[in-house]
Amino acid sequence: MNKKWTPIAFLCVALCVVASLVLFGCASPGKGVRSAGTFAQTFARGAVAADHEMASQAGAQMLAMGGNAVDAAVAASFTLSVVRPYSCGIGGGGFMVIYLPDDPTHGFVSTAINYRETAPYDQSVAASGISMSNGRYSVAVPGTVAGLLYALEHYGTLDRETVMAPAITAAYDGFVVDESFYRAAMGLHEKYTKNPGLQTSHMRMPWEKFALFGRVKIGDRIENPEHARALELIARDGLDAFTQGQIGQAIVDALAHKAKRRIRGGGITLDDLAGYTPIEMQPIETTIAGKGFIGMPPPSSGGVTMFEILKIMQAKGHNFSDAKLKNASVHVMIEAIKHSFADRARYLADPEFADVPVDELLDEENIRRLAASIGTSVKPSQEYGTHEPLVDDAGTSHVSVVDPFGGAVAMTETINHAFGSRVGVEPFGFVLNNEMDDFTHPSARPNGFGLVQSKKNMPEVGKHPLSSMSPTIVLDEDGQVIAVAGASGGPRIITSTTQVLLNVLGGMDAGQAVAMPRLHHQWLPDELRFESGYNIHILNVLGNPLRGYGHHITDRNVSAIGNVQLIVRDPDGKGWQAACDPRKGGRPAGID
Ligand code: GLY
Repeated sequence: MNKKWTPIAFLCVALCVVASLVLFGCASPGKGVRSAGTFAQTFARGAVAADHEMASQAGAQMLAMGGNAVDAAVAASFTLSVVRPYSCGIGGGGFMVIYLPDDPTHGFVSTAINYRETAPYDQSVAASGISMSNGRYSVAVPGTVAGLLYALEHYGTLDRETVMAPAITAAYDGFVVDESFYRAAMGLHEKYTKNPGLQTSHMRMPWEKFALFGRVKIGDRIENPEHARALELIARDGLDAFTQGQIGQAIVDALAHKAKRRIRGGGITLDDLAGYTPIEMQPIETTIAGKGFIGMPPPSSGGVTMFEILKIMQAKGHNFSDAKLKNASVHVMIEAIKHSFADRARYLADPEFADVPVDELLDEENIRRLAASIGTSVKPSQEYGTHEPLVDDAGTSHVSVVDPFGGAVAMTETINHAFGSRVGVEPFGFVLNNEMDDFTHPSARPNGFGLVQSKKNMPEVGKHPLSSMSPTIVLDEDGQVIAVAGASGGPRIITSTTQVLLNVLGGMDAGQAVAMPRLHHQWLPDELRFESGYNIHILNVLGNPLRGYGHHITDRNVSAIGNVQLIVRDPDGKGWQAACDPRKGGRPAGID
């Protein structure tokens, strides 16, 4: 470089770094932590892929301190509660799949923790005409704090104060509004502008704090000291702070607010909160394409549905080692998706309340039968199953983690729709979920997305609503982790995670695998959607009845089908390729 220019160039670079720190709120990622700055990066020893950079960094800080994948996942989750308040948080619930093949503290662990929300009322209340989609009757008993603390206590290695510290700092110091936050906030603003009645019919959330109602701008900094206070209380007093202490009382008050105005009683009680218990479950394990897959069992539909899709493809002779899209294989994948989603709608629910035939659905004979029924043309919808479709959402977040001990966590959490129920627990700066909308409404009234589900999924006290969340870990023949994945996006979680894992099996690196355009079908409604940029030749053949298979394509320009957070073992031994879906703007972080 010309010497004369060196100081100027140096100054420019320095200014750019400062500007990006200011714009994107990148505080130092922490000692020993490397933060990617791009959506995909390779890390030598451990990695965290969350849909916000600060959450990835929080997790990686735990790895740098010697913590394991569970410590990292818990730290990332509490931080997401601050920086992605429309996607997940302490007012919601989730699932965590843990695989620690050789943890220095816990030895071998393969388990799944269900901390999904539960119903506080049953179908008779639901049948009385209340809204299970919005407002206080849409709120199910939150499980996130109980689940995270359970995971930390049983499978983590660091203390509560340590893993919660980054989240508390993030809440006090603030985070910067990025495009994803902006879109979520403006989406809500638009909804409320179109229907001003909604504003008064719901409890208020901390609107001002989240700078909604059209005033939010990309680059604004949002601090949330009330939420920091909630996290401090949980760090100090544990679960009791959330279920019995000031936070629990604030939740009950937020939901009872209308009763004071003598409109109607109800909501969640302190007993509901205290009675909530996370459930440790055996994950679903299966072998596909010679690899071990570990997924979440019901009440998640994610593991069963994804494995059914992949197994049907396998039975049809799919070449998993080739990621190149071909007309015939994309057609088979769509048909496998439709069969599996039809089964999801008909058979899946909370196994503690309904008979859920997981083994039968994944049984080789059932898979062969379904595979044999797939021909070259599309069938009428009713030939895939009976009429029981499902829901969509925007309020979910996934975190993938690998640690230096070979351990992995796939964790997906949700408050259901963007900003959940929109009921805010104002003194503590967070919103409550609207997970009741994931149940089937007794009137068979379609949910917020015009869809219904099966009777098995009707609300009952203590029941978990059926979920699409699909946290997944893939192992090699020796039981070592080769991929960790999961997504947000309602039913698109299942299709997007499936397609990304197909890309990984086909040899793509993590960045390519998440960036590739995707498709979505969920059996009913009979609508096939493609992201813009999808292979146009395939799209034309599949959609043209004269040339191809007669699929009913309704959209060729979807901007995002799911948001996948992925970690893949580098085939050249360089460590871990981590990729945060560019559709939501996350950045991975890790340790070398
Ligand atoms: N609320 C999204 C899901 O659990 O599927």
